[in-house]
Amino acid sequence: MTSVDRNPFRAGLLEGRTILITGGGTGLGRSMALKCASAGAKIAVVGRREEPLKATVADLEKMGARADFATCDVRDSASVRSAFNKVEEGLGPVNALINNAAGNFLCASEDLSDNAFDAVVKIVLYGTFNCTRELGQRLIERKATGDVLAIVTSYATTGSAFVLPSAAAKAGVLAMMRSLAVEWATYGIRLNAIAPGPFKTEGAFSRLMVGELEKQALKRVPSRRFGDHDELTNLVAYMLSDASPYQTGDCVTIDGAEGIFSGQQFAGFAHLDRTAAKEMMSAVKPKK
Ligand code: COA
Repeated sequence: MTSVDRNPFRAGLLEGRTILITGGGTGLGRSMALKCASAGAKIAVVGRREEPLKATVADLEKMGARADFATCDVRDSASVRSAFNKVEEGLGPVNALINNAAGNFLCASEDLSDNAFDAVVKIVLYGTFNCTRELGQRLIERKATGDVLAIVTSYATTGSAFVLPSAAAKAGVLAMMRSLAVEWATYGIRLNAIAPGPFKTEGAFSRLMVGELEKQALKRVPSRRFGDHDELTNLVAYMLSDASPYQTGDCVTIDGAEGIFSGQQFAGFAHLDRTAAKEMMSAVKPKK
């Protein structure tokens, strides 16, 4: 397989975009901020902890990008409103949003407390609603067009055992993007989702891929590797750009075929040495 092109876009692809990224101080959110800035966007990163947000803004400014941050708890609509106000003072009107902030942990569903269910659903589902509504109201008021992208997950359409609050909330986010893609098309607002499979980040892997689970996850990917951040962020930049104006209400899966591997009865052969696989298959050929 060829290696990923880390900078495939023309300079200025995202010029004119001011993108607010939730959870933009760390992990994939930070990688999205760097990629979109390298394509000419102004970047606002928001999250609960000031330190990583400040560090990301410093890195963005080192690249020559215009960037700002606001501390914000996406679960709280008033906090979201103040964050938009703060970053718009410095950067001008926000016209794109990446709903990236998430919370997740592994837990048998019968053991979930009220607070545990709430913690994840409020970050993922309510947080996405609070931010999307805030941007939507501002764009509609200004008669401006804009873009919303939600980072869901490959199990948003299938559900997933042991991460029930996340699975339920991500399914809700997908329904939200699809509903609004129809409702807000008249305002020139596009809404899409990206459903990533496993991409390595401290936040997700320390919570979800503990011990043997990381090895098991790798076995479900036909190419036996996790995604590279650039592979995801290239897709993000494309989906927020003028290269894809007709794409709305869509959900693009980027998982190295992990999802379809898991659903294919004979996929296991793909992981065997091909000669050994062929021998096994010919051994079960019906006798003439
Ligand atoms: N298993 C079961 N319950 C858990 C849990 C786990 N692994 N982790 C947290 N909880 C429960 C807590 O016990 C608490 O419930 P309780 O009050 O009934 O005891 C509830 O969830 C809230 O936990 P708390 O830590 O107070 O919430 P928070 O708002 O500070 O944190 C989380 C939210 C739990 C989602 C936390 O993991 C987080 O902040 N995550 C953000 C980053 C992240 O998850 N990244 C990965 C994305 S893939």
